[in-house]
Amino acid sequence: MITRLYHSNVRPSLFNRSFNLINRWTSTSKRTKFIHPNDNELSKILSKVIEITGPIPLSSYMRQCLTHPTLGYYTSKDPLGGQGDFITSPEISQLFGEMIGIWFYSIWKSLDSSTRKINFIEFGPGKGTLMYDCLKIFKRLLKDNNIQINIIMIETSKILKRKQYEILTKDAKNSKLFESFPFWNSKLNNGEIIWCDTEIDLNEILDKNNNIDDNYNFIIAHEFFDALPINKFIKTNLGWRELLVDKSNDSSNFFLIQSPSETPSSKIPQLNKRYNSLPEKSSIEICPDLYKYSKTISNLIVDNKDKNQGKGAALIIDYGVSNNIPDNTLRGIKTHKFVNPFSEPGKVDLSADVDFQAIIETINDGDDNCQTLGPIDQGDWLINMGIQLRLTQLLQNLQNESERNLLISGVKRIVEKDENSMGKIYKFLGLVPQFKDKENVIPGFSK
Ligand SMILES: C[S@@+](CC[C@H](N)C(=O)[O-])C[C@H]1O[C@@H](n2cnc3c(N)ncnc32)[C@H](O)[C@@H]1O
Repeated sequence: MITRLYHSNVRPSLFNRSFNLINRWTSTSKRTKFIHPNDNELSKILSKVIEITGPIPLSSYMRQCLTHPTLGYYTSKDPLGGQGDFITSPEISQLFGEMIGIWFYSIWKSLDSSTRKINFIEFGPGKGTLMYDCLKIFKRLLKDNNIQINIIMIETSKILKRKQYEILTKDAKNSKLFESFPFWNSKLNNGEIIWCDTEIDLNEILDKNNNIDDNYNFIIAHEFFDALPINKFIKTNLGWRELLVDKSNDSSNFFLIQSPSETPSSKIPQLNKRYNSLPEKSSIEICPDLYKYSKTISNLIVDNKDKNQGKGAALIIDYGVSNNIPDNTLRGIKTHKFVNPFSEPGKVDLSADVDFQAIIETINDGDDNCQTLGPIDQGDWLINMGIQLRLTQLLQNLQNESERNLLISGVKRIVEKDENSMGKIYKFLGLVPQFKDKENVIPGFSK
């Protein structure tokens, strides 16, 4: 059993996340001075770009800040843990990943499959802890060493890829990490781990290594969608206008300004009924990458040969709103505190609430082969999956008082719904094939 060490250093309470930046963002005249001097290397690059091209979309700014190949937030350091900027549920309690492993196992049983190959695919796997805990339980329940289990990690950071390798192969014999082009890989006892940078590589990996239709895909995206770049819009009497990132003349201080005319992206809210029916003066955040990732995930769990069969399942877990459209949720996080998202580009984590309704719409759009479940509160999902029972079981074998307390407080933190805990803010969304007569057997999602 693993007892996590950093249970007291949770991601800052998300209750006070929406500190109000809207006045600065929408104003072209009043510009607030920033406390942090923006003079690092990435600031200079972004400044230069804005000087040459004019203001840039917020998504372009965020993409550089988060995933610039050498200066991006995720690509230049390990941000997770007590010493880092935030902590996530799997790093707080092993039971988080274990409940996910049990869920996938129950889906596997109800799919009634004869396949001998399963891919566990994770988007944004962090340190690899969730996958480790999930597979430990899944394999224990599966009790069949002849089924090949491959792990595919979609990860932008080389630093985190190495951490993932370490944890996932700690029980494997003679494993070696091949940092080869185009895809890093490593052998497991019965399968392999392959890393890719983006979802675009995923089909290549699945096609090259296997007959894609013979595989089952179990997919996890935990705190991945909130790390994707967003665009911001405001509805004016002339239509939707994008808010772009500009800089002051004499320094690299960044702020948002309203585009005076339409931009290519302002078509997105204009063409979507859910956004376009909003009243004038509404402002919204849209994550264009959400659409491609949602479609990629749903395509991977639907059987293209036999639509009634299905070949996998997915869990998307994140903080966000179930029904509303996100607005003014972009935040910067540094050393477990909220900071201005335009301070210290590349040194501050940037994230925004996930629009679960947009994921559901995308998946249901023109395709009824995949069904969505939830979103429901993380606390409810974990209770439904039997986290209390598993806790009792683990406590029976644990004598050390401080380890017992650590285990209990970790579970409380991920289950409870008060403002210091994660049980309410985080939501679980399930994606399963439309295996029509079996809807009732899917655990976790009843309210
Ligand atoms: C907030 S962390 C979540 C970590 C992990 N899921 C957990 O629960 O501990 C975001 C993860 O997504 C990765 N990431 C962020 N943007 C990405 C992108 N565009 N493509 C691939 N990975 C990305 C980061 O490197 C990191 O592993």
